[in-house]
Amino acid sequence: MTDMPASTRPATLLPDAQTVTEVKHWTDRLFSFRVTRPQSLRFRSGEFVMIGLTGENGRPLLRAYSIASPAWDDELEFYSIKVPEGPLTSKLQHIKPGDEIILRPKPVGTLVHDALLPGKRLWLLSTGTGFAPFASLLREPETWEKYDQVIMMHTCREVAELAYGQELVANLRADELIGELIGDKLFYYPTTTREDFSHMGRVTDNLSSGKVFRDLGLEEGLTAERDRAMICGSLAFNVDVKAILEGAGLREGANSDPGHFVVEKAFVGEGI
Ligand code: FAD
Ligand code: A2P
Repeated sequence: MTDMPASTRPATLLPDAQTVTEVKHWTDRLFSFRVTRPQSLRFRSGEFVMIGLTGENGRPLLRAYSIASPAWDDELEFYSIKVPEGPLTSKLQHIKPGDEIILRPKPVGTLVHDALLPGKRLWLLSTGTGFAPFASLLREPETWEKYDQVIMMHTCREVAELAYGQELVANLRADELIGELIGDKLFYYPTTTREDFSHMGRVTDNLSSGKVFRDLGLEEGLTAERDRAMICGSLAFNVDVKAILEGAGLREGANSDPGHFVVEKAFVGEGI
């Protein structure tokens, strides 16, 4: 195969291959990358797909990944953890522009506008790489057309882990087109729990104590009439946030039955 002249070589050796166009490392545990988008791929901002590499047995090694780019983008962006012994990410973290990854073009997921009833305030609640689907939704014009206020809460242990989200929000505000759509609707509330930062504390605590409402100057309390939410974090995070929302009278929705909030796991934890 290597002796074949480039012009006669097959374009790809992988099924459903896409080419990496950009890679950015944020910390020793987090990176983001962009790949070419299959022309036929249609998805709704907030959905996820299966992506991966060829495993040691020669078969595809695939994992679920939220598409972090919006539905209108020419390329696809992903925001990823690096698990040192992780079957996929121990290898995926070494990809470079020009490399190929596998991308199964079958987007699915519940963190989509269609799964929510109309409302006034949208809460995007995340920890860690759970920010990824919201990186898509924040860049989606529909988000800004549908809501008067969008509150983006993102909590990580340390400050450096917030960088991807911080840069994305700064670019969003500065963007000529989307920045105008956003106007004064975006309330960004990044916090840390294990390193000093301007705002600290778990999403759950900041919601329950009312701190986030006071800090952002928002009308206090959650109501089924006004508030909608999307949740994406660890299973424990999702369970705890869901309890708070249900305690305020909000009902979980799905694609087939829109409601007041929707939930998706950012990853499947140990032993679950
Ligand atoms: P795995 O064997 O899959 O995981 C090993 C262990 O690492 C897990 O048991 C868990 O404890 C930990 N872990 C895995 N993923 C994460 C994570 N994201 N954050 C913190 N700890 C983790 N991962 C992303 O990085 N970005 C995404 O956008 C993303 N979207 C997902 C969407 C869905 C619906 C689901 C179910 C998972 C998603 N994941 C995402 C997790 C992803 O599918 C893989 O688990 C991850 O890429 C690690 O793969 P691995 O083979 O290296 O390790
Ligand atoms: P904490 O540092 O207080 O545990 P992790 O890296 O363990 O996935 O956690 C990411 C962030 O999510 C951390 O800031 C962590 O806070 C927070 N977190 C973990 N579990 C929960 C939970 N059940 N409810 C709210 N926040 C959580």
